Order: sequence, then C-alpha cells, then structure tokens
Amino acid sequence: MPYIRETILTTIGPDGAVHIAPLGIIEDGDLWVIAPFRPSKTLDNLEANGIAVVNYTDDALIFAGCLTGRKDWPLTALEDCAVPRLEAALAHDILTVERVETHAQRPRFHCRITGSGQHRPFTGMNRARAAIVEAAILVSRLSMLPADKIEAEVAYLNIAIEKTAGDDERQAWYWLMEKIIAHLAATEPSAEA
Ligand SMILES: Cc1cc2nc3c(=O)[nH]c(=O)nc-3n(C[C@H](O)[C@H](O)[C@H](O)COP(=O)(O)O)c2cc1C
Repeated sequence: MPYIRETILTTIGPDGAVHIAPLGIIEDGDLWVIAPFRPSKTLDNLEANGIAVVNYTDDALIFAGCLTGRKDWPLTALEDCAVPRLEAALAHDILTVERVETHAQRPRFHCRITGSGQHRPFTGMNRARAAIVEAAILVSRLSMLPADKIEAEVAYLNIAIEKTAGDDERQAWYWLMEKIIAHLAATEPSAEA
C-alpha cells in the first residue's frame, strides 16, 4: 500500500467560494494523488481549476468539525496562489493537477507540488489526536459499516481519548460521538420488528 498523509484540503469553486475538506493525499513518486469519491465539492473544484492547497495540521477540531457540519475555519491568503490556506496550518503545499485518471466513482488527480510554506512548529504526537483522525474517518464511512463494527472501533479509540485528550480533543470527540449516536439510533432495528 502507498504512503498516505491525512490532511485538510482547501479548494475554490468557479465563483471563488472556498471549500474545506479532510482528504488523504497518496504518495506517487514525485507526485501526490488526490482521490475523492463522487459526489464531492473538492472533486468539482479540482476539475474546474486544477489547484488545491494541502494543509498539514494536527488540529483535532478541524478534522472532527468538517465531518460534523462545522466547515467554517479561519483562512489566510497566499501570495502565490488564488486558493487560501487554513490559518491553523503548521505547513502547506500547493498542489497543481498534472494528469487526471478518469473513473466513474473515484477519479485520481495526479498533482505536483508547486509551492510550500512553513508556519508553526509541530509539537509532537498525541494519541487522542490520532484517535480523532480515525474516528473522523469512521464517521465518513458510517453508512458502509455494521453497528457492531462501529461500536467496537469507538470503544477502542475511546481509550486514547480517556488517557491523553486535552480540551480540544474532548470537544472533537463529543462532536463525532453525537453523529455516531444519531446514526446508530436511526439504523437500530426496531424492538417490535
Ligand atoms: C482523515 C480523512 C481522510 C479522508 N480521505 C478521503 C479521501 O481520500 N477521499 C474521499 O473521497 N473522502 C475522504 N474523506 C472523507 C471526506 O472528508 C468527506 O467525504 C468529504 O465530505 C468529501 O466531500 P467534499 O469534497 O464534498 O467535502 C476523508 C475523511 C477524513 C476524516
């Protein structure tokens, strides 16, 4: 399997509206591949103008927020690119699409890094932040997973939250758990059935 970085992408639409979404970028030699499933605003924007800014951040609130309807995060304009970066980015790369592999469900955009910036120091790994990234991915796949698998993953990830979370990670976990609980309640087989 290729190496994947879990990131937050910023893209813009033809009307200049900025879109923020977590996506993995996949290493491919000198290039990085963005592979959004249809339908996707990120995909539409990449097709429209071929530029994405990859924001490298360990901010748990942004990963969890984007998966729970909280997509309005502060942005900072870049001098060399029409697409802004996240204000919270530790670093960013500008990706320019070189080639597109068309596909009905999941096209692949092969991109070259055409600009970069460093903004803040990385202050180390944290298990709760890693657990939030995993839980956010879980939330993006709820409709594909059986309830017992979802419950088992939550129980495991909760260990890292209990042991190592700060306030932001606890808030991010709460947002994600609200979504998971609502999903499980809506899909639970009725007691009368
Ligand atoms: C860490 C992380 C990585 C993700 N990677 C992908 C990805 O590679 N492709 C994808 O289609 N969705 C991915 N998702 C789910 C998207 O963030 C989510 O479906 C999003 O809404 C994409 O649709 P949009 O472009 O319309 O916002 C990921 C989610 C998380 C939390």
